[in-house]
Amino acid sequence: MTVKPLNDLLNWRYATKKMDPSKTVRQESVDAIIEAIRMTPTSSGTQPFEVFVVTNPDIRSKIAEAAGGQAQITDGSHTLVFAAWDNYTDQRIDEVVDLNVEARGDLPMLHAYYDNLKSNYVPRDAETNYAHAARQAYIALGVALVAAAEQEVDSTPMEGFNPDAVDSILGLKERGLRSVVLMPLGYRDAASDWLAPMDKVRKTRDTLVTEVN
Ligand SMILES: Cc1cc2nc3c(=O)[nH]c(=O)nc-3n(C[C@H](O)[C@H](O)[C@H](O)COP(=O)(O)O)c2cc1C
Repeated sequence: MTVKPLNDLLNWRYATKKMDPSKTVRQESVDAIIEAIRMTPTSSGTQPFEVFVVTNPDIRSKIAEAAGGQAQITDGSHTLVFAAWDNYTDQRIDEVVDLNVEARGDLPMLHAYYDNLKSNYVPRDAETNYAHAARQAYIALGVALVAAAEQEVDSTPMEGFNPDAVDSILGLKERGLRSVVLMPLGYRDAASDWLAPMDKVRKTRDTLVTEVN
């Protein structure tokens, strides 16, 4: 596979509306997308989310139903469900500390840094903490969208779904997680997708950017 310039990939990808149900995303591509999610930077390195890779057709049908019937979930071969921590806890942050010790040794600053983080985060209300964790999941979504394009895999970022329903389909509440965003993967059925031939709609650089010199 030849590596294309990033902006070419961003132009190629689009929020696919019609996936080809006869095609299954190559496992190497799924693995590359998951690895990109794993390598995504997060605030204080907490990676406060998990990703469910759903291939089971019955579960995907149920998720599609919870997403207003969006058929990319069933026509694609995999659906990634990004699920954020429902709250920050001492235990969850301690596990991050353990990972740091494992990778880098017991550095002097480490405990002070994460003790401070715990004293800031843990007393906050669960909703604020969930919202912070969900923002980290969105960073991973962005990286995953680019990784999928690099693999020439089509995808659709989706927040048009009922999170409570998806939480109950996957048993997320019991695991202290809440679904944030979905990302079906597949290969576009360009001939049947009204969006495939359309130009991108983007603000101009001038509208988006203010140069402060
Ligand atoms: C967080 C997020 C949620 C979205 N939710 C949906 C969705 O539920 N269904 C859908 O078809 N498209 C969804 N989209 C696709 C956007 O409408 C689309 O990305 C945007 O219009 C830009 O177009 P493009 O991705 O085709 O370049 C979502 C995109 C993002 C980033």
